[in-house]
Amino acid sequence: MKHPVRAALAACAVTALMAAGAPFDAQAQTKVGLLLPKSSVYASLGNEIDDGFMIALEEAGMAGDFTIVREDTEVKPQVGVAKARKLVLQDEVDVIVGIVSSGVLAAVRDFVDGAGVPLVVANAGNNNATGKDCSKYIVRVSFSNGQINRPMGPWMAEQGIKKVYTMAPDYAAGRQMIEAFTETFTAAGGEVIGGDFTPFRKTKDFGPYLTKAKATNPDAIYVFYAGGEAISFVKQYDSFGIKSEIPLFASGFLTSPLYVNAEGPAAVGVKTGLHYIPTLDTPENKAFVEAFQARFDRVPSEFAVQGYDAGRVLVEAVKSGASGRDAIAAALPKVEYVGPRGPLTIDPATNNVVQNIYIYETVAEGETLTQKLLGSVANVQDPVNGCAM
Ligand code: BEZ
Repeated sequence: MKHPVRAALAACAVTALMAAGAPFDAQAQTKVGLLLPKSSVYASLGNEIDDGFMIALEEAGMAGDFTIVREDTEVKPQVGVAKARKLVLQDEVDVIVGIVSSGVLAAVRDFVDGAGVPLVVANAGNNNATGKDCSKYIVRVSFSNGQINRPMGPWMAEQGIKKVYTMAPDYAAGRQMIEAFTETFTAAGGEVIGGDFTPFRKTKDFGPYLTKAKATNPDAIYVFYAGGEAISFVKQYDSFGIKSEIPLFASGFLTSPLYVNAEGPAAVGVKTGLHYIPTLDTPENKAFVEAFQARFDRVPSEFAVQGYDAGRVLVEAVKSGASGRDAIAAALPKVEYVGPRGPLTIDPATNNVVQNIYIYETVAEGETLTQKLLGSVANVQDPVNGCAM
């Protein structure tokens, strides 16, 4: 049940946000293919991105200017390609928005580039998509896997942590996130003394891996897990008795506000890095949190903001007069603004977002869990990584 005062305040915030969007007299509808997981381990992420995307269109007063066709990737690369082909060849969309898994992004990259269809990446962090496999048709408003994890290496070394054991799912995102952390942590004097890549979408029991990690006697464990796997991992890290002995650090998806309350007290004290937390004390974020809560009756997560920013860059591109695939692809990277996560720009050398990274701790506040800001690194930008557009 919505709190009446909060709902009234939030309704005002929505009205104010909508008033801020310039009225737009569209000649033609823009057709969007929303390509997200609606099933499997990342289904909740896909739904949250969808909700954030819709908030951006509504805030601009432009929901009626877009036709949306939704397809489920099932977090499977070949399904993602088949659905991308369907959206482009059968539905004739002007732009695709979405993709959560780095594996799916790698699989659809050649198709969207060859077809000349703009793709606004609203999650998948695969470094190569804005590195050696970049394309003028691919613009990423979410993050790259390297960008999220690099700041954690020096920060953990500064906390006096010397020996770390790592764990992540065995696919592109898991490998790239751990690689980025390892690179900066070792450069700062730390040592990665062991690690495991667990079978992706198949691991239900993390016990054997946690037992192995504990036997190496590390100062800390560093992981990347998201969605359903994150919930299982955090709960088992506590139930196997490791939490009381070895501190847990991670990329911030581990304790996302989207599912941290499902993890419960096991998540308290976990320290992570991420590009957005809902507790950021800025006017832009407060307005967004209010609008999102008014519409969906829950706190927005990083996935909601990624969906919102994907919608907002698209709205801005269309408002600037872009119509049709090539014009939209050219306009998207030029959009910049200060949004819920802080300043957002797109690096013209890679088409990857440039943004702040926040280090936060999950803390208990009464019955709920929330995010306490510990530090931040401003305007984190990826190296060009072989991108030539
Ligand atoms: C990825 O596959 O790139 C990814 C999935 C979930 C959260 C973060 C990254």
